[in-house]
Amino acid sequence: MSDKKQPVSRRQFLNYTLTGVGGFMAAAMLSPMVRMAVDPVLKPKEAGEFHATGTEVANITKEPTRVDFSFEQKDAWYVSEVSKTAWVYKNEDGDVIALSPICKHLGCIVKWEGGSGHENRYYCPCHGGLYEKSGENVPGTPPLAPLDQYKIKIQDGMLYLGEIIPNKVV
Ligand code: FES
Repeated sequence: MSDKKQPVSRRQFLNYTLTGVGGFMAAAMLSPMVRMAVDPVLKPKEAGEFHATGTEVANITKEPTRVDFSFEQKDAWYVSEVSKTAWVYKNEDGDVIALSPICKHLGCIVKWEGGSGHENRYYCPCHGGLYEKSGENVPGTPPLAPLDQYKIKIQDGMLYLGEIIPNKVV
């Protein structure tokens, strides 16, 4: 066995050096790109987000009124405009109630007093579903659950709506 050291040739030294520097430069260039692509996915969604409806609480009556509102939604790196609708009214105690218009049968859109014979009720034109003002489904019609409701926030006299939750009025 020989103790003779193998000298590194100039060619090998250049190879090692260029490989190391090249790898370092590639990592430095790629890391911001990878971070930019992955960052929105890793970001936690803001909990309890509320959206402006442009509706003054003072103008809300005991009669359900259609409120349309929209907001920008970020889904990872994709930004889209989302439009939503609510049926909004004040109950006997003066509390604001905002109901989702999505029928609990098969997802059609319900209307307050959607036709003759449906006075003081929400009506779903798809299969004749009916709901009371509180969102309670009328027995004997297709929906088997009450309309969902929005979380609400009142700030500076204006109505803000949040996520849709199961009906707590009924
Ligand atoms: S979808 Fe509303 S009654 Fe069927």
